[in-house]
Amino acid sequence: MSQVDDCINIINQNIDDFKPEVGLILGSGLGQFCDNVEIKASIDFNQLPGFPEAGVGGHAGRLLFGNVGKTNIVIMQGRAHYYEHGKADVMAVAIQTLKAIGCNSLVLTNAAGSLVKEASPGSVMLITDHINMTGVSPLFGAKSNKRFVDMSNAYDLSKSESMRKAAKSKEIKLYEGVYAWFSGPQFETPAEIKAVKILGAHAVGMSTVPEVILARHQDLPLCALSVITNYAAGMSETALSHEQTIAFASKAADTVEHLLISYLEGQS
Ligand code: HPA
Repeated sequence: MSQVDDCINIINQNIDDFKPEVGLILGSGLGQFCDNVEIKASIDFNQLPGFPEAGVGGHAGRLLFGNVGKTNIVIMQGRAHYYEHGKADVMAVAIQTLKAIGCNSLVLTNAAGSLVKEASPGSVMLITDHINMTGVSPLFGAKSNKRFVDMSNAYDLSKSESMRKAAKSKEIKLYEGVYAWFSGPQFETPAEIKAVKILGAHAVGMSTVPEVILARHQDLPLCALSVITNYAAGMSETALSHEQTIAFASKAADTVEHLLISYLEGQS
């Protein structure tokens, strides 16, 4: 049996006949969203073979099952990053499992640095496309022609439109733009930021893109949000640090919560 099969069995033993519809991956500092969800079951990642060890501050490492309104959701409270072990496919089993247990779409969230003056720390940006600056893929080694994934419209147009509507209904200013994925764990240099700005990026971060590629490989539609925690390198006097990321993500958490609740309520 594969690790995904094992995970499905373990999950089914814990959730009875609960069928999740939407999978939500929570980025750094956004864990408090779970307080809004009526939790039916919780499984630690370390009980699920192939799920990541979630070791980065602000990441808990649990799979939570529950409801927002009438929508059944499963939350990954925590994720793993390429920079932890240099493995771009570290989220592969997790994403395949979310699909296998019934999710028909995903919402990905992350903390990001802003390249746009108006999108100040605390803002939220809908990701409309990405630039992969790492040169790696979570599909290295994948077999079959399915690996040649079409990445046009990777960020689902109709899900993204629902997110815009959710933001409007809650009077939340939702920026939009292109997310550039850097490997990390070091922050970018000012020259790297200038370069990706010229290439068309609006935000930078160290996550999400491998999950987008894996989800598209599984034919799972998705939309994604960046919580802006800082201006990118060279754009402000403030030194960049993970502590700042967590602090600003927590500050924006209320806005993101309202947005996600409104979006998820509309997804059943
Ligand atoms: N760069 C990369 N990742 C990040 C940043 C940043 O400026 N802020 C939060 N995550």
